[in-house]
Amino acid sequence: MDFRGAHIISVKQFERSDVDEIFRVADAMEPYSQRDRVTNVLDGAILGNMFFEPSTRTRMSFGCAFNLLGGDVRETTDVKSSSISKGESLYDTARVISGYSDVIVMRHPQIGSVSEFAKASRVPVINGGDGSNEHPSQALLDLYTIKKELQSNQRQIDGMHIAMVGDLKHGRTVHSLSQLLLLYKDISFTLISPHELRMPEEIVSELNNAGHKVVETEDMENGLTDNDTVYLTRIQEERFTNKLEADVYRGRFRLNQAIYTRNCQPNTVIMHPLPRDSREDANELDNDLNQHPNLAIFRQTDNGVLVRMALFSLILDVADKVEQASRKVEWYTEGRF
Ligand code: CP
Repeated sequence: MDFRGAHIISVKQFERSDVDEIFRVADAMEPYSQRDRVTNVLDGAILGNMFFEPSTRTRMSFGCAFNLLGGDVRETTDVKSSSISKGESLYDTARVISGYSDVIVMRHPQIGSVSEFAKASRVPVINGGDGSNEHPSQALLDLYTIKKELQSNQRQIDGMHIAMVGDLKHGRTVHSLSQLLLLYKDISFTLISPHELRMPEEIVSELNNAGHKVVETEDMENGLTDNDTVYLTRIQEERFTNKLEADVYRGRFRLNQAIYTRNCQPNTVIMHPLPRDSREDANELDNDLNQHPNLAIFRQTDNGVLVRMALFSLILDVADKVEQASRKVEWYTEGRF
């Protein structure tokens, strides 16, 4: 695809070569995310970072990525502080914000809202999550992490085994990651969820039609065996009618040190898009794995900055100019990270 000026709404936009290109540019962003070098390639550019649902990682890492490229960030962080709460339409909001910004990231609770917003925008829009539908930049950073983790085990994405665990019905990250994996070959998926929260049928069909192997199960311990990666998700309480309905499923599938050691391969990578629900009645990924070398959750969050820098660089067509607009930083303190 031609990234220049493109909206990023869905992983379905990508060919495999596009993903390779994003990952190549992400690799080149390492000196900047590590504060070894600083670049001002986006000096004067403004990101409109519009989050109409709670976020820590996506909002912060898109903002940091833009700042690390030398640009400025303006934010809206909830509906209450936006004129959407006064009845302003997505069309009007898009027309207005795109007059203030060079690129926009948007998160919104309604499926399809970011696509609708993008149609009215005069600048590129990146989907930061639209309801339970898609979270394309998360899928990219997840796959980038999987690639790096598997490389250190002499494995690759083609042919890998992955278990996805938890609320696969409402989890937009597993929807986008599964659909991104349609671009790869011979993958074994073990989808572990309560029956009522299983992966949408159309995604399972797409995986089967692409030649992947899919097993759906409620038996977590059996499902965890023989995987390169286990990808856990939280029960998405905000997508249920009320808390009591979510409580039915909370805490059903948990990974801790004992369960991991009993069932997983020694090299199985542990992933989670975060936030994990660390409350006692949920705790789908226990803190007793925090020091485990295969726990990749904070490598995922670090990689999010690289991948989001890559997206901005490609969309704003500066990927080849980042280095020439750079210099070594003088304030870096050894051991800061
Ligand atoms: N993974 C993710 O989307 O996290 P946030 O909700 O904190 O942005």
